[in-house]
This record gives sequence, C-alpha cells and structure tokens, in this order.
Amino acid sequence: MKEFLSIASVSTQPERESDIGYAATWLRDRLLIAGFPKVAVMPTPGHPVVYAEWLAAGAEAPTVLVYGHYDVQPPDPLELWNTPPFEPTIVGDDIFARGAADDKGQMYVYVKAAEAFKETEGAPPVNVKCIFEGEEESASPNLEPFVREHADLLAADVAVISDTHILGKDMPSIVYALRGIAYVEVQVTGPDQDLHSGIYGGAVHNPIHVLCAMIDQLIDKDGRITIPGFYDKVQELTPEERAEMAKIPFDRDKWLREAGVKTDWGESAYTIVERTTARPTLDVNGIWGGYIQEGAKTVLPSKAFAKISMRLVPNQSPAEITQLIRNYLVEIAPPTVTVEVRDLHGGDGAIIRRDSPAMKAAFRAYAEVFGQEPIFVREGGSIPVVATFKNVLGLETVLMGFGLPDDRLHSPNEKFHLPNFYRGIETAIHFMRFLAE
Ligand code: BES
Ligand code: MN
Ligand code: MN
Repeated sequence: MKEFLSIASVSTQPERESDIGYAATWLRDRLLIAGFPKVAVMPTPGHPVVYAEWLAAGAEAPTVLVYGHYDVQPPDPLELWNTPPFEPTIVGDDIFARGAADDKGQMYVYVKAAEAFKETEGAPPVNVKCIFEGEEESASPNLEPFVREHADLLAADVAVISDTHILGKDMPSIVYALRGIAYVEVQVTGPDQDLHSGIYGGAVHNPIHVLCAMIDQLIDKDGRITIPGFYDKVQELTPEERAEMAKIPFDRDKWLREAGVKTDWGESAYTIVERTTARPTLDVNGIWGGYIQEGAKTVLPSKAFAKISMRLVPNQSPAEITQLIRNYLVEIAPPTVTVEVRDLHGGDGAIIRRDSPAMKAAFRAYAEVFGQEPIFVREGGSIPVVATFKNVLGLETVLMGFGLPDDRLHSPNEKFHLPNFYRGIETAIHFMRFLAE
C-alpha cells in the first residue's frame, strides 16, 4: 500500500500524466499477483481504466462489480502537511498520504481480499469484476461512455464501492444515499479591457462588485437558495426518515472542532446531519478577478469570475439545475455587464434500496467483523458512478466504506486508519461469502 500511495496520481494535473499511467500499471501487476486471471489496462479518451476479472465461482454464483478510483486530489497546500503527501508515513495506527482513504487505501482492500482467497480457498466464492478508474476526482468525464461501451463486459448482479466513511472506528454504518452535483463557472464582463479607476471609476460598473452582489442574491438570510425552481423536484424527507436520522449518533462539539468553525450555519429548520446529507446546497468554491499581486494597482477590472457548485438531492437533475442558475444569473445581471455561465460538470445523486440481498450481506459482514450492527446513513458527497451503474447496467450499489469522518479527504494530512484497512479486508471477504450463500 505504501508503494501505491507513493505514486502521485493526481488526475487534474496534466504534468502528472505519467504518474497516472504508472499507478494504472502498478495496479494491474498487483491484481495479477492477487490471482485475477484476466487483467487489462483499458484506454479511454482520458486516463485508463484498470479492469480485472476472476470468474471462478461458476455461472450460478453471483457476480460482484467492484469500483474504485486510483486517482487522487492535488496535495496542495504542501506546507500544511506534517509529512510529504507522497511519502506515506505511519504514525500510530494511521497511514498519512494523499489518497490514503480517498480512495487508494480503500480500493486496495479488494485486491487483498482476493489475494486472501487465493491463498486459502484458491479463489473467491463469487465472481469478481473490478473497474478502477483514474478520473473520479475530475468528475469522471469518460466513465459513462466507457460503461455504455463495455456494458456486456461489466454485467454483474451488484456493485460494491468502498469510497465513503463509517461513523466511528467501532461504529460501522452503511451509506444509502449520496448527493449529486452541478458545477458551474461564472464570468462577468464589464468594460472590454481593464481601465484606470481614477479616470473611469464612478461611471463604469465594476464587474467584481456586480458578481459579489449577484452571488449575495443566491442564498437568503435563512440559508435558502433563491434560484427560482431550485427546490421544485427535491424529494422532501419523510417524518419517518427524519426521526431515523435524529437517532444517528452526532456530537456537535466534535463536529465543530473537526470543521474548525465557531458555530454552524444554514437552514435552521433542518439539523446539521440533514443539512449536510439530505438537503441541497450551494457553495462558491472560488472567486477571482482584478489585481491580486503584491502592492496596489488602481484598476477597474474588465472581468470577474466565480466557481459555484451545488450539491443536489435525488430527483434534482444536474442539467436542469445548471439551466436554472444560468437563467437566474442572466436575469438578475444589471444591463451594465454581460454574464456567461459555463457548465463544468455534473453528476446525479442516488438513493439505494436497503432490503436487497447484497445490502443484507454487507450488514452481516460489518456486524461480524466490527462486533456491532451497522446503521444506515446518508452522505453529502458525490459518487456519480452509482447513478451510472443504475441507469446503464441496472445495478444497485452497496457503499461499503471503511474511512473515518476525520480522514481529511481532499485536505492536508489525509490519513487512513490501518485497523479499518484490515477490518475492511475481512468485511469484504465476509461480504463475498454471505453473498455466495
Ligand atoms: N470519495 C469521495 C466522495 C465521498 C466522500 C462521498 C465522503 C461520501 C463521503 C469522492 O472521491 C469525491 O471526492 N467526489 C467528488 C465528486 C465530484 C468530483 C464529481 C465530490 O464529492 O466532490
Ligand atoms: Mn473518492
Ligand atoms: Mn475525493
């Protein structure tokens, strides 16, 4: 795992292309060593998919499609890491590295689970297919076409993904819902070039002011998104589901400490757990424009930009939401500027049935290994492939995560709790066993 984590497979940075390629071939070699008879690095218009299959259980046995991603987020800001992001370091029970929990460490669980079967019973008790992609952190632009094109190859009875976390190290949980996402970039243009603010200031509308004012109109003082139609398709939480969510162990002070904030914010009619997992949200991810170098420059800028992402709940369509925000921003823009809204990416959310045989197998597997029955939770993050598997392959996914809430995904000092890695391997083994029964 240390070798795997030391490869800087950052998918968004073109200069990391060769590391991505190396991660894919490294993974191929490990899958071969683990016993998969058929392994291939399959090209896509972007980064390759690593595919593996081991169909030793026979046509009667179920087939599990394992998904994971071998790409990682950029490690910056580097100066905030206690140890270098691509020099995996074990401190106590944790291994620190970019990708330790998201998702290299977690997907590696299946390589080791398969290897354990090879060394004991000869082969896994179910048929196993693996699809490991290298573009998840760039919103998987080539995955859906790949899945469509290879639908026969990927045919299975259920998908399993370990790319989420459990509630605590002795508190297993199964994620049954994820949020979707719609991501846009907004460009506001005023004058066609930067102007002297002494000569023109006062009579030319500043696009940065305009952008800030427009952004300010996207959320009201109660934390509600004001884009017309935004909530139209939202599937409201039922009283039963809210009651169930209220029972999820939640420590507000611990949550505040982990987030590093003085107090929480948002829709007051909903709990923090509801707001972060089952309510749609809007966040400005970045904003820029004008002069930001050292010292002062008296400029009235031509352009202002912002990146805005919206987390969506099931039934909200990323394409529709993108159109709604575009229409709204264009509508509220003053006549002094022009506004362009570019669609960066989108992905559907998901709600997963909890009564399927595979969910039951996962439930039993966690209970067996952690000595504690898992509880069902929703998560606020997005894994768009879950909807792709459902829509293209007709597959339900089991989200069998082994991370912890404080793993610092996408942040400095990301880590994976090693006891969870070993328990993860055991849980994967039991999951396959129970599924085979
Ligand atoms: N593993 C995460 C998603 C996640 C994290 C789900 C924690 C639930 C709990 C995944 O790698 C991720 O970061 N997804 C992106 C998706 C985006 C790039 C389309 C996200 O959620 O921002
Ligand atoms: Mn991930
Ligand atoms: Mn991620």
